[in-house]
Amino acid sequence: MKILTMCGSPRKGNSEAIAKKLKEILENKGVKNEIILLREKNIQTCEGCIEYCNHNLKCKHNDDMAGIIDKMVKTDGYVFVTPNYFAMPPGLFKNFIDKCSVLYTSYHFTKKPDLSNKKAAVIVVGTDKEFIDACRNHLAKWFCEALRIKVPVKKSFRSRSELKGNCNDIFENKLNPDMDKSLQEIANKLVRSLR
Ligand SMILES: Cc1cc2nc3c(=O)[nH]c(=O)nc-3n(C[C@H](O)[C@H](O)[C@H](O)COP(=O)(O)O)c2cc1C
Repeated sequence: MKILTMCGSPRKGNSEAIAKKLKEILENKGVKNEIILLREKNIQTCEGCIEYCNHNLKCKHNDDMAGIIDKMVKTDGYVFVTPNYFAMPPGLFKNFIDKCSVLYTSYHFTKKPDLSNKKAAVIVVGTDKEFIDACRNHLAKWFCEALRIKVPVKKSFRSRSELKGNCNDIFENKLNPDMDKSLQEIANKLVRSLR
């Protein structure tokens, strides 16, 4: 079983800390997990030129997105973990989402690739619960559903890192009772849904 994690934070922060801890948990269960830090990838902004991608079923940019999409097609499940910026994901993650539209278009015209057997955990980090939940639900409903990916588990975590001035407080800020247990539950639900 293979799970691909897409981490949408532009910094080495809480989302990345969660991705790494989940990787440990998944690998302890014998599941292969690769983390893609989108901040390390060259992903150009979607130019909206559907007259190109709708006909060619690929993006005209020669960036890292083709390789990421290839991995997305070959994997069993996903972890999408991202910060919440104004109840939305950051531009980095939104670029990734926009560039996934070739998956949507390709399925529309050719019925391939079919991602309907893929499962995802959607995890969003931020300060304010209402904002985080809105972002998380939006990603699960409008991004995952559009690509036909099922979401057996979604979770919000609260950080306070920008107020404290450090990058990573999620495991010690006491805003998330029992982080380790929550991450175990996420891994269990995702893995169970893939069995
Ligand atoms: C540009 C920007 C906008 C943000 N907007 C919100 C917001 O609207 N609501 C909120 O709860 N947190 C907001 N945050 C806080 C981040 O969600 C928080 O710092 C989170 O820990 C970032 O994730 P990371 O640590 O993985 O980078 C914002 C942070 C930034 C940098």
